[in-house]
Amino acid sequence: MDGFQPLRVAMIGTGYVGLSTGTVLAYLGHRVTGVDKDKSKTDLLRAGRSPIREHGMEELLELSKGHIVFTQDTSKAVAEADVILIAVGTPSKDNGEADTQYVEAAAEEVAQSLLPGRSYVIVVKSTVPIGTNRRVIYVINRVMGERGLSRSTPVHIVSNPEFLREGMALYDTLYPDRIVIGAEDPEGVAAMQRLYRPILEQTFNAPSFLARPSGYGLPPMITTDPTSAEMIKYASNAFLSLKISFINEIAGLCEKVGADVSEISRGIGLDKRIGPHFLKAGLGWGGSCFPKDTAALLAIGKEYGYEMPIVAAARQVNHEQRHRMVEKLQQALKGVRGRVIGVLGLAFKPGTDDVRESPALDMIRILVDRGAHVRAHDPAAVSNAKQALEELDVEFASNPYDVSLDAEGLVLATDWPEYVTLDLERLAQSMKTPVLLDGRNMLDRGKVEAAGFLYMGVGK
Ligand code: UDX
Repeated sequence: MDGFQPLRVAMIGTGYVGLSTGTVLAYLGHRVTGVDKDKSKTDLLRAGRSPIREHGMEELLELSKGHIVFTQDTSKAVAEADVILIAVGTPSKDNGEADTQYVEAAAEEVAQSLLPGRSYVIVVKSTVPIGTNRRVIYVINRVMGERGLSRSTPVHIVSNPEFLREGMALYDTLYPDRIVIGAEDPEGVAAMQRLYRPILEQTFNAPSFLARPSGYGLPPMITTDPTSAEMIKYASNAFLSLKISFINEIAGLCEKVGADVSEISRGIGLDKRIGPHFLKAGLGWGGSCFPKDTAALLAIGKEYGYEMPIVAAARQVNHEQRHRMVEKLQQALKGVRGRVIGVLGLAFKPGTDDVRESPALDMIRILVDRGAHVRAHDPAAVSNAKQALEELDVEFASNPYDVSLDAEGLVLATDWPEYVTLDLERLAQSMKTPVLLDGRNMLDRGKVEAAGFLYMGVGK
């Protein structure tokens, strides 16, 4: 690669963000050390296996072999690095606030490990409340002061939020819409330019399993102050989640007036100012980011005495959407108590085994609460769902056709592509009453009805 200068990178945390980013950086030619306290994770990774289900991860790890190692030892990885990225978790506290204790602990440990006489760039990649960057600077300066290294070891702090979708994390890292850098000094910006140069200039060979999208240009790098960078991350996720909640609210009205929300999405999405993405009506949004980040944004607002009614409404609509779907089923079946309800899909979206804040699981909880017996299937997420629903009496099936057996209602809760090709007649015939709630508007009403089902979609 023309003029490419590899950097030594320490990635603190090999969760979703850390592992995806670290593996891509290694693939680009940097020398990466992934650090994780969890030995089971580092053991798996050393064996070339991915602890998360992510498209292309094991293949890219294989291609990056020799450029990436994994360890539990922060100090060695940090001491030898040029750039240290902090990508540890920021779980929600009870009040919605993102808990930064792991970020602070990582910053402290990093500062303890820096060698005198060298300069370092420390990057906060975790999604953190506004102002955390300042807090990280404070922690690092404090430790450096205690160690008497404040002058001899210049440290540049950068905020570099990520915008990765689960299942598409490697793709989104290689072909981002933009790279956001929040830095107070030019050294930090320069290091980030060097780190991401192969992406900014698209000079790397695209892996066959992560092909460069046709028409993809060069991604812009936005440089701003750290506080704005932190805000860009929250505002992005909040905006995307409110786009979905908006279309779900419109879907509710479509049902009242006899309009079809898919047509509305198409019609408004063609307006370039609105755009076609994130306008799919359904059971609503879940996952590890939207619920947590919108809650964190509200908590930040509250801290400043500032109300954010739009974000709050997006969350409320999303919460109610699950209830609305159960109501629909309840009306069609004249009550769900004592009935067997089949649920297809448990993951919060297709392509993942992640069930965090999954709309499917929330719906199951409501159904069970109302006295239904739920039998569920998912191509990947059964094991995680079993754990999450431990306290509930839910049956799990390894085959979608077992779910429908003698059921009185069937809910399609996650839009896994394999559900589109199900034998609808076989499903309908095995049910006691063939009622189908397509919670993701993914099936063709005509075909479903021809198979003998009573079909209900969302906003149709
Ligand atoms: C999201 C953001 O897209 C990503 O930029 C950020 O870094 C992390 O959060 P992710 O949580 O992986 O990524 O999922 P995403 O693909 O965005 O979907 C989120 C949820 O919205 C899913 O539950 C999905 O089913 C739902 N969704 C999405 C809709 O209901 N309708 C849509 O039109 C799009």
